[in-house]
Amino acid sequence: MYAILPAAGYGTRFLPWSKSVPKEMLPVGDRPVIHEVVREAADAGVTDIVIVLSKGKEAISHYFTPDPEFDAYLESKGKAGLMDDLNALLARVRFHYVEQKEMKGLGDAILCGLSAVPEDSPFAVLLPDTIITGKSPMPDMVQTLRESGKGSVATQPVPAERAVRYGICGGSETQPGSFQVTQMIEKPDPEQIPCIQMLNGEKQHMAFAARYVFPASLRQHLENTAPGRNNEIQLTDAMATLLADEGFHAHLLQGKRLDIGNPEGLVEALTKRI
Ligand code: UTP
Repeated sequence: MYAILPAAGYGTRFLPWSKSVPKEMLPVGDRPVIHEVVREAADAGVTDIVIVLSKGKEAISHYFTPDPEFDAYLESKGKAGLMDDLNALLARVRFHYVEQKEMKGLGDAILCGLSAVPEDSPFAVLLPDTIITGKSPMPDMVQTLRESGKGSVATQPVPAERAVRYGICGGSETQPGSFQVTQMIEKPDPEQIPCIQMLNGEKQHMAFAARYVFPASLRQHLENTAPGRNNEIQLTDAMATLLADEGFHAHLLQGKRLDIGNPEGLVEALTKRI
């Protein structure tokens, strides 16, 4: 299975630091955050990783390119083990790189990434500046696709005041932690935030949590999506038309989402010793 990791964004929340270093290379322990995201994808059965890059983000492709000369140098110094973890990951997946020339939004970045994905292939999307601690939702999402042919997104409940910052879905809980989606809106206005009707009678605003699995047909929906909020191609707009055509699922995130792409998220990740 293919996974697209869009990593072309400017990372303005980390400026000025991110002017020269990609935020996806921020360290969590001794590894960059994107290493953990690639590992999560590989653990879910992904064999091909498409990383969407832009000018100045070459450190990412450098990190994932094997370097036998450097390995030989480390070995000669008795330090070969230091690269074992990364080299084992490199042996598990193939990497493909695609450039996004203009930052026209997440939907556009995924369209760029799709140029490296076979037309009839379903694919996953993982935001490479966000780690999930605990259980990854990816295996359940891949299973949903295999069993029903339907796409799905990981979600987590958020209070109304934060819901306006995320993609939010509405619908109903069909089994514990599994939702049938009937509506989705990117960064909804406060008076139109969708809700999920939970089995226990509560209503929750469920925010998209950085992990998606799509059928191949999302490609056509993205191609037909006009620029939306902020004049960007919004992934959520394409997902909404896919939902209308084929239906869509959401899964409750069991673990915790840590968005390393902002300074508070990084501090949280470091202080929790992830
Ligand atoms: P974000 O909105 O979190 O990233 O997009 P950003 O735009 O880089 O960050 P800020 O808001 O300015 O601080 C989520 C992911 O989508 C990628 C980003 O690199 C990030 O990993 N992205 C976003 C693209 O690849 N291209 C885009 O045009 C926009």
